[in-house]
Amino acid sequence: MREVDAVIARRLSSEVALINQISGYIVHAGGKRMRPKLVLLFANALGFNGPARHELAAVVEFIHTATLLHDDVVDESSLRRGKKTANALFGNAASVLVGDFLYSRAFQMMVSVDRMRVLDVLAEATNIIAEGEVLQLMNMHDPDISVEDYLRVIRFKTAKLFEASARLGAVLANADPATEEACASYGRALGTAFQLIDDVLDYEGDPHALGKNIGDDLREGKPTLPLLAAMARASDEERLLIRHAIEHGEVDKLQEIIAIVRRTGALQATRDAAQAEVEHAKQSLLQLPLNKWREALLEFAIQSVGRSF
Ligand code: IPE
Ligand code: IPE
Ligand code: MG
Ligand code: MG
Repeated sequence: MREVDAVIARRLSSEVALINQISGYIVHAGGKRMRPKLVLLFANALGFNGPARHELAAVVEFIHTATLLHDDVVDESSLRRGKKTANALFGNAASVLVGDFLYSRAFQMMVSVDRMRVLDVLAEATNIIAEGEVLQLMNMHDPDISVEDYLRVIRFKTAKLFEASARLGAVLANADPATEEACASYGRALGTAFQLIDDVLDYEGDPHALGKNIGDDLREGKPTLPLLAAMARASDEERLLIRHAIEHGEVDKLQEIIAIVRRTGALQATRDAAQAEVEHAKQSLLQLPLNKWREALLEFAIQSVGRSF
């Protein structure tokens, strides 16, 4: 990961001062670097240890960071990684444009690896992420979406990049198709679990640990699983309150809604759904050779549902 950070620092540079300032601001704010870790763990688990793994690990972090810059504009968020968001500090226009810089820099870097399959995987992933964010936009303020609609959004907007990161490790190692699919399936399940927990933390997280504000989803009228599950379990009166909050994005009822979400067991139901995904991810690992990297991937999956940030 130190080598990945070195690649990130090297590849971030631009002759345009504002690009350096904003991209440096968000990249150096930290972040868990989960996607690059997946690239390295899968590449190593399957016996590839060439420098291309650091390059691709940096690529997925750049793509992730670009989506965050755009996402915080779309979500009108003000806190990210424990600091003011780039949009709050530098404005929406600069955030969107620097996000484009990071996206396109990521494409320059992946071309440098000179493998058509790598381009294939990442071109598909970025396209699906964009579809996921647009699908979510269409679902906004709609209390009638199904759990399947919700799951489709999170598989697209979040799980797809985890899937691509895991798959890239396998592609670098020239793994056979069945092994590559097992890696992809682990990434997809882990990414889904990760977003499910993110949606729980938006209702019960600690903003200091999380580095993001809580209650943002409700403010935006985002019908995430905690709310869908609460509506399925609540009384008629409570259901109406939640419907109204989704339709109008009200936060003045946040405390009341959190109480309903807790009391109905909706947060636990969402955690259970995440745990089921983790079990699936663990199952996929059985296809890999048993070594310390596979052990680390097992630990990684378990930690992703226990997280508080
Ligand atoms: C945030 O991802 C966006 C989601 C998919 C929920 P992370 O929680 O991985 O963000 P950082 O990189 O650690 O800040
Ligand atoms: C994460 O979505 C952004 C992408 C995966 C593109 P969210 O909007 O749910 O995540 P946070 O809460 O802002 O990190
Ligand atoms: Mg957001
Ligand atoms: Mg969003």
